[in-house]
Amino acid sequence: MVSTHSSSQKILVTGGAGFIGSHTVVALVEAGFEPVIVDNFSNSEPAVLDGLRAILGRDIICYHADCNDAAAMTEIFRTEQLSGVIHFAAYKAVGESVQQPLKYYRNNLDSTMLLLELMPQFNVRNLVFSSSCTVYGQPEILPVTEDTPRLPAQSPYGNTKAICEDIIRDTVHAGTPIKAFSLRYFNPIGAHPSAQIGELPRGVPGNLVPYITQTAAGLREKLTVFGDDYNTPDGSCIRDFIHVMDLADAHVSALRLLDQSRTNSLYDVYNIGTGHGASVLELIRTFEDVNGIQVNYTTGPRRPGDVEQIYAVVDKANRDMDWQAQRSLGDALRDAWAWQKKLSKIV
Ligand code: NAD
Ligand code: WQD
Repeated sequence: MVSTHSSSQKILVTGGAGFIGSHTVVALVEAGFEPVIVDNFSNSEPAVLDGLRAILGRDIICYHADCNDAAAMTEIFRTEQLSGVIHFAAYKAVGESVQQPLKYYRNNLDSTMLLLELMPQFNVRNLVFSSSCTVYGQPEILPVTEDTPRLPAQSPYGNTKAICEDIIRDTVHAGTPIKAFSLRYFNPIGAHPSAQIGELPRGVPGNLVPYITQTAAGLREKLTVFGDDYNTPDGSCIRDFIHVMDLADAHVSALRLLDQSRTNSLYDVYNIGTGHGASVLELIRTFEDVNGIQVNYTTGPRRPGDVEQIYAVVDKANRDMDWQAQRSLGDALRDAWAWQKKLSKIV
């Protein structure tokens, strides 16, 4: 463990070595918070800490531990004087969750419940939980607000997000002195503009942008666009792609809002997206334009379980948190390519 000394508010960042967590660590430090990472590196690399050091010019406290290890987590809560928790740690591979549902329910639910038990014991009030637009399924009406009904999840992974939201809500409503927000992320993409940290998919990427960057880097032969016969203007699916640094900033805004609230117990949900939909084909074209590089792609059949289109209304976060996405799709795709070039040692 690497330790630093600071009198600023300490925030436990579970899964802080992961894609969104590592970018949020940067945003937290820049906003004057002191992040404390706990990660078991089940889906990340300790080298992320080197990237963070290169950006921040100093070490970040990091515990190599499992968020389901009650003894280890209790020790962390005892040692660190925490004022809040951001709970990123979870398994997130949709397809794998269908094959191994218990692995997903065990990791994602137990870690959340353990935090809800530890927080009041150690007088830690503020919790930000990583939820997902996956809880909306394919909504009947677009764009989606926080009042759009959640639909039965398409996967055990999606179910874990809906169930964790409910566990947190019920715990708060029972009068537990916790103030919590579930942030429903839309599709995070991109990387830190320094190219020191970014997404590190293991094996063949399931997500669109890493697949594009790996294809552009020559690691994959060809991208397949899953379906061109959807009921959308160009036939490909539509998503609300958000720069991961904008998403990271939303966590800082969420913590500030939680801190300002004078109530003892509070629970709310927020959509975190750009408010704009972009199609898969549009995204590929933007990637090519901003980076001046061709992506080898073909169209193929639809991917089972994909929703046709989803994008957010983000008025609630704009209003309550005074937050909105600042970076463009082009910015995100430029940063994603810079990160891939660094990984692939392309000059
Ligand atoms: P990620 O896999 O890159 O990061 C998760 C981190 O948590 C990893 O570093 C992993 O090693 C760690 N981890 C997992 N289980 C752990 C455990 N039991 N103990 C300690 N560490 C553990 O994923 P991400 O993309 O950064 O996602 C972060 C959160 O946001 C997840 O909860 C995910 O479900 C949610 N989310 C992600 C997306 C997305 O598209 N990336 C969209 C919506 C919601
Ligand atoms: C985006 C679009 C694909 C790869 C997933 C999870 C969701 C949430 C975000 C966590 C889709 C198309 C993709 C490829 C393609 N994660 N695509 N060729 O499916 O919106 O959401 O990540 O909560 O739960 O399901 O993201 O990046 O996989 O796909 O054409 O090789 O790109 O069909 O339309 P998705 P994605």
